[in-house]
Amino acid sequence: MNLKEKLAIKAKPVNKALEKYLKIREPKKLYEASAHIPLAGGKRLRPVMAMITCDMVGGNSEEAIPFAAALETIHNFTLVHDDVMDDDDLRHGVDACHTIYGLSTAILAGDTLFAYAFEMITDCNINDKIKADLVKNIAYVVRKIAEGQQMDINFEEEETVDPELYLEMIRLKTSILFGSAAYGGALIGGKEIEEANELRQMAIWVGLGFQIWDDYLDATAPAEVLGKPSGSDIRQGKRTLLVIEALNRTNEEERKELIRILDDNNNADSDIKRAVEIMSNCGALENCREQALGYLNGAKKTIGKYPKNDARTLLEELLEYMVTRGH
Ligand code: IPE
Ligand code: IPE
Ligand code: MG
Ligand code: MG
Ligand code: MG
Repeated sequence: MNLKEKLAIKAKPVNKALEKYLKIREPKKLYEASAHIPLAGGKRLRPVMAMITCDMVGGNSEEAIPFAAALETIHNFTLVHDDVMDDDDLRHGVDACHTIYGLSTAILAGDTLFAYAFEMITDCNINDKIKADLVKNIAYVVRKIAEGQQMDINFEEEETVDPELYLEMIRLKTSILFGSAAYGGALIGGKEIEEANELRQMAIWVGLGFQIWDDYLDATAPAEVLGKPSGSDIRQGKRTLLVIEALNRTNEEERKELIRILDDNNNADSDIKRAVEIMSNCGALENCREQALGYLNGAKKTIGKYPKNDARTLLEELLEYMVTRGH
């Protein structure tokens, strides 16, 4: 069985739970809009991370299914709103939520997905202390994601950004949700807070690599592979690590050219190509790939301490997939 098939098996009960919760009610437009993106596709990385971590610590991942589904509705809530903020019209290979249902309904669909997550966690068959911890944790993470997304938007106005600040931004907008997935999976699997926190840190490491790799793919992979627009970060003027590294490496002329393209609100396809060429020629693309792999190795070290079993091997494969997929 290949990795995709193994991950699909782990995601299957989560998909079932999602289908059950996301059934269409009145007013239909709201519930159709809410179900549109989560049921159109997605890799289900966060739920699968929670389920496999639960398995690895010796727990029963069936007990983690509603929590895992909650992670996915939180993730999809952020995607629906992110596509509004990033002005992207394709997600999970289909038209973005706001493109079909309009901005107002997309805002409400995001809110609805957000709210579902708490209903799901409350439905988890776990002890009340863990439940309360997970609810508090998810609420905290959503607030942190908002901070990260705001930093991401703020950076569009800067010429360049300190790499440390970029890392803080992606830790907030992306990594800590992965952190919660591993933390919750470990708690539901019977681990104490201290050990669960160690696994949270593992997932935060790989989450950093995952977002750097997502930025890399945005610049280098076609929309058909991504299921979302290609070159969107350059069009939006995002200060990704690729840009930051390129601005640090390239000559004055190319630096000016890259900034001009990033700050242009009306890029032609040839501008996007040229920006990628500048980032590639100065070694920024390759450097970012290496940095992503560095975070993967940090994450792998943590799970290397666990007894070698099928779940640990699958988790290692998942981590690797997160920073090498698509190329
Ligand atoms: C996309 O995440 C948003 C980021 C944090 C980069 P995924 O790549 O996991 O989204 P899916 O798999 O399409 O749902
Ligand atoms: C998104 O980062 C992070 C969240 C959705 C919180 P991106 O803006 O890079 O995600 P994609 O590339 O649109 O999936
Ligand atoms: Mg974004
Ligand atoms: Mg986006
Ligand atoms: Mg992206």
